[in-house]
Amino acid sequence: MAPDRDAAARMFGLDGRVAIVTGASSGLGASVAGALASVGARVAVVARRQDRLAELAKEIDGLAVACDLSDPDRVGSVVPAVVEGLGPPEILVNAAGNMFTTEPAECEPPDAIRRTMDLNLVAPFLLAQAVFPHMRALGRGSIVNVSSISGRVGVPGIPQASYAASKAGLSGLTAELAVQWARHSIRVNTVAPGFFRSEITGPLYESERAAEYLRRNTPLPMEGTAQDIVGAVVWLAGDAAGYVTGQTVVVDGGWTAR
Ligand SMILES: NC(=O)c1ccc[n+]([C@@H]2O[C@H](COP(=O)([O-])OP(=O)(O)OC[C@H]3O[C@@H](n4cnc5c(N)ncnc54)[C@H](OP(=O)(O)O)[C@@H]3O)[C@@H](O)[C@H]2O)c1
Repeated sequence: MAPDRDAAARMFGLDGRVAIVTGASSGLGASVAGALASVGARVAVVARRQDRLAELAKEIDGLAVACDLSDPDRVGSVVPAVVEGLGPPEILVNAAGNMFTTEPAECEPPDAIRRTMDLNLVAPFLLAQAVFPHMRALGRGSIVNVSSISGRVGVPGIPQASYAASKAGLSGLTAELAVQWARHSIRVNTVAPGFFRSEITGPLYESERAAEYLRRNTPLPMEGTAQDIVGAVVWLAGDAAGYVTGQTVVVDGGWTAR
């Protein structure tokens, strides 16, 4: 029998599927939005910076939806705007996230703890709730949350207690939603990146000492990039991962394997 040379490409194709990518004005979210569009998805890009979103939306023939996701009262505006502009969403990638304090745990201000939770954990949960009825009606859906290895292990020398708690919360949310929504063929997974250069981690890489610390603790001999994480997100978004749900996939160059 002749090999079906297009079979793998079909498994990773997302022709015509509507996707929402948060945090798409820079870094990982922007790379994911571009990659999903390149395999056929119609992508709504969400973040605060309207100018960057408009530029990316034009490039990928998508839709820009500006929203401050750290305000739970505003998160509800995102999905209706996507439904009106592109149609019902079948893919949601929660990549927006930030760190609001680098104080040691015992000194983290309550306000920073709350802001971290609102953006990194509450917003992905609210967005998942908002896409749920559309995915249920379609009979399928894929939600991919972006957490961090700091949701799994402590990182010596880089204090981030509330950030770690918010990211670990995403893995718990992922497993629970996966089980509750499996009957509707809605899959929910998390990708946990190690370190890569972006706006958030920029200051870390500016210090040669910190950059050397990251190199020393990463078994693979090269620096991670947003593109290294994109593959896992695209895989989880589509049919290639059709039997994968409730999982946290770590993409960290081996950091947590030591
Ligand atoms: N870089 C790393 O080493 C690393 C490691 C582990 C996990 N991560 C996670 O990966 C994800 C992407 O981060 P990145 O490294 O690509 O950083 P990034 O370039 O700083 O991207 C963060 C994105 O989140 C958006 N965002 C921040 N606050 C927002 C708000 N209040 N409302 C809406 N959007 C908001 C930003 O857009 P606006 O500023 O335009 O709103 C931006 O698009 C994050 O969840 C991060 O925690 C990163």
